[in-house]
Parts: sequence; structure tokens; C-alpha cells
Amino acid sequence: MIGLASPSLTRGICAPARSLAALTRRRLGSARNARDRGALQIVSEGTGRFIVGGNWKCNGDRASVTALIEALNGGDVGDNVDVVVAPPFLYVDQALSELKSPMQVAAQNAWVEYTLEDETHHYDSDSGAFTGEVSAEMLEDMGVPWVILGHSERRTLLGEDDTMVGKKVAHARFHGLSVIVCVGESLEQREAGATMDVIFKQLRAVADEIDDREHSSWGSQVVIAYEPIWAIGTGKVATPEQVQAVHAGIRQWLKDNVSEEVSKATRIQYGGSVNEGNCETLARESDIDGFLVGGASLDATKFAQICKSSAVHYKAVGRA
Ligand code: PGA
Repeated sequence: MIGLASPSLTRGICAPARSLAALTRRRLGSARNARDRGALQIVSEGTGRFIVGGNWKCNGDRASVTALIEALNGGDVGDNVDVVVAPPFLYVDQALSELKSPMQVAAQNAWVEYTLEDETHHYDSDSGAFTGEVSAEMLEDMGVPWVILGHSERRTLLGEDDTMVGKKVAHARFHGLSVIVCVGESLEQREAGATMDVIFKQLRAVADEIDDREHSSWGSQVVIAYEPIWAIGTGKVATPEQVQAVHAGIRQWLKDNVSEEVSKATRIQYGGSVNEGNCETLARESDIDGFLVGGASLDATKFAQICKSSAVHYKAVGRA
């Protein structure tokens, strides 16, 4: 087993969003009954390939990154699953050249310059005097296929707001990058019953910016990672019911605000203390199309097991 030290945060556990979960249970219950009778499909279900991301965050050194890549290459992540790992920037090039297909590589961020936005909402230049930043153009140039944007650690620690994240997503899509965009609520927001409002606002910023940006689109290349902040790095995993309720809400929002096609094609990942022990229970939910994994992605054996929970998902939704 290869592992890197993973930081852990200690925060409180949240109360379940009962009304939302109950609503979804009722909706899924009736859809499942209907499906059992050979009638309808579950309306909110996605059609995309299961996708698991490994977010290495700011962990590792030359030796441990090399060992992790070797262990991932020697492992088995299963079939019919997209696997994307995101090393720190310094190790992205190494991962690009050493990580074996079908595993793909993501950056953990990309800069977009938006303070000088003109009235047509175009913000074409993202290279320039931005010390310490890496642009989407550079990622495209280096052949990095994926980028994680809007992670809550960047939103809270570095002050990235919804608009900035939306612009980053639209700009990355303009450069042909596939995007994992993170959304999610804090414990305080959940307890105030604001979970879906917070997430819809985050999604609205992305949708508006994609609409505004020429040659940018959702396609199936924008993956949404629902990551409740209170569950990240805390060991406090959200319940499958809590996650399913939020994911169904996100899919419905996409249908109402983007298109039915996008709502079906968009993969919605769950992230927050996912590990080899809880992934299969979560993967049974119809709208959990994959995971974004932090701590457990630093261990190749655990990460491969999480990737393999794709089989459980396909079976549960009748796509095995
Ligand atoms: P975690 O992190 O799996 O360590 O909770 C998830 C994430 O931040 O993407």
C-alpha cells in the first residue's frame, strides 16, 4: 500500500436536510415502483460514465508522487469508469508522462483574468502579469485534459467567489479543457436550510458565464462535484440520502436552466470523506455518478477500490 500523509480537519457533523431528503425519497420511491412495474425510468437519472477524481491537493514530494503513480499504474481501477487524478502543479507534467491510460490528469486550478472585463463580457487574456498563477492556455499547451475549479478550499482560503469560478469554468471550456467544478454548502448554510439556494447560486454563475463566453459550452465535459464543506477532510461523510437529494436537485436545476440534454449528460460527483468503506453504499444512489476523493486518493489501493464502485452503481441503476 502506498500512501502520503493526508491533512485532516475536525469540524462538526451536520443535521440532515430532512425535507429535501424526504421529498427525493418520495420521488424516487414512486419512480422505482413505476420502474418495477415496467413503466417509467427515473426522470432525474444521468446517462454519463461513472467518473472518479483523485484530488491530491498540496501533498507529496518527488519520491512519494513517483511511488503513487507507480502503484496506480500497477493497480486495477475496473472497467467503464473515467479516472482523473490531480497532482500539485509541479508534478502534473510527471503524471502526464508516467500515468498509464485510461487514467487521466487534472490540474487543481487555472487562472482567469476578469477584473478588466469589458462591457461585452469577454476576457480573452489570461496570461500576463499574474505572479504565481497558471493559465488555462498553459494547461491546453501542455496537453492537460482536465482541471478542477472552485474547490471549497480555494473559495474559503483564497476568496474565490461564484463569479470568478464561473469565469474560470467558461474560460477553461473555451480552451477545450474538461472541468470538474465544485459546489457545496457550509455547515451553517445547511443548518439554515440554505443548501440548495447556495448551490443554485454557484451553478447560476457557471451557467451565466458559459452563456456569455463565445465558444464555451457545457457539453458532457463539465462535471459537477457536490462537496459539502462540512464533509471534506473531516471523516463526516454525508448520508447517501442527503447526497442523492442534493444531486437530484442539481440535475433538475440543469434541466430547468440549461437543457434536458445537459442534465442527463452531466456527471455529478460526491466528494467529502469518501473512502473504500463507504463508496459502495453511496454509489448505489441513482444520481451519484462518481466521486471526488481527497485523502483516500493518496493511497493507490483504496483509490482503485473506490473507482471499482462504478460496477455497483451500474448494477443499481440497471445499466450493468
Ligand atoms: P476528502 O476531500 O476526500 O479528503 O474529504 C475531498 C475533496 O476535497 O475533494
